[in-house]
Amino acid sequence: MENRFGGFGNKAGVGGSGINFGFAKKENLQLTNIEFSEWRDFIYNLTGIYFQENKKYLLENRLQKRVDFLRLDSFKKYMDFLKFNPAKSKELSEFYEVITINETFFFRNQPQLDALVGTIIPEIMNKPENRMKRKFKIWSAASSSGEEAYSVAMMIDDLIKPKYPNVTFEIIGTDINYAVVETARKAIYKEYSIRNTPPYYLKKYFKSDNGTYILDNKIKSMSNFSILNLYDDNAMRKMTEFDVIYCANVLIYFDQQSKIKVVNHLYNSLNRGGYLFIGYSETLHGISKAFKLTSFPKTIGYNKE
Ligand SMILES: C[S@@+](CC[C@H](N)C(=O)[O-])C[C@H]1O[C@@H](n2cnc3c(N)ncnc32)[C@H](O)[C@@H]1O
Repeated sequence: MENRFGGFGNKAGVGGSGINFGFAKKENLQLTNIEFSEWRDFIYNLTGIYFQENKKYLLENRLQKRVDFLRLDSFKKYMDFLKFNPAKSKELSEFYEVITINETFFFRNQPQLDALVGTIIPEIMNKPENRMKRKFKIWSAASSSGEEAYSVAMMIDDLIKPKYPNVTFEIIGTDINYAVVETARKAIYKEYSIRNTPPYYLKKYFKSDNGTYILDNKIKSMSNFSILNLYDDNAMRKMTEFDVIYCANVLIYFDQQSKIKVVNHLYNSLNRGGYLFIGYSETLHGISKAFKLTSFPKTIGYNKE
């Protein structure tokens, strides 16, 4: 999803920064070193996201938007709001929105999609023990606004469904950020999201309307989106029996401990024989030895043997 903050977040300023309310903008607050480490721990304990020392000003800038919007006069009051205010759960979703990075686009990782339709689905479906398999489950964990999940759905509809007419391909997208999940459910996109989409798929599955791209209802109905925090043990334990999981471009925001915890959950969420894919710039080296590294043309996957 395109954003206005150099690739970070997607709606951080919505609702205003004081100026929207017609009074003079206050001086920005400064996050002290002690406050920064309190916020870092708070965010880490909630989400697994670890703000490095050099992200102090970024965090300060983001928190300022919510502090202004709520007309508070300190970062401390904002943290108290998030912890104790009766309206905290609604504000938490705004908070997640300002601290997460939601960059994504359709067909972001074509080799991983090719591995799914060219190798993995036939391999799993052809196993003798899967002769009666009628459901194939794919999870886009940290799906942002849905482009990854819907790219999978388009490829499956186009190339796989005709070969397996009796199998339901269930695609689930989850993210911690409420706003991006809502965007995924609407499935109406801007130019930025479709910029890497092969013309064939653009023509087949989108209707363009006044600068927006509306995804075909058939593809929309193949995917379901919900809110899920990858760092929440209870929520993660409920995610079971997946054949393939895409968890791309989110582990980079976690520290080693939270990566280990999340990847361990993802392992448990997979069926035997299933695969995990992570982002180009990510690795499970030093995170998990449970998977078998498997090569596909131009990409690698992690197999649960
Ligand atoms: C950069 S996007 C990646 C989107 C997509 N997977 C891709 O590769 O294009 C990272 C997403 O991870 C989500 N995220 C960050 N921390 C999370 C957590 N603890 N649980 C679930 N989602 C999280 C963010 O809200 C954001 O939408």
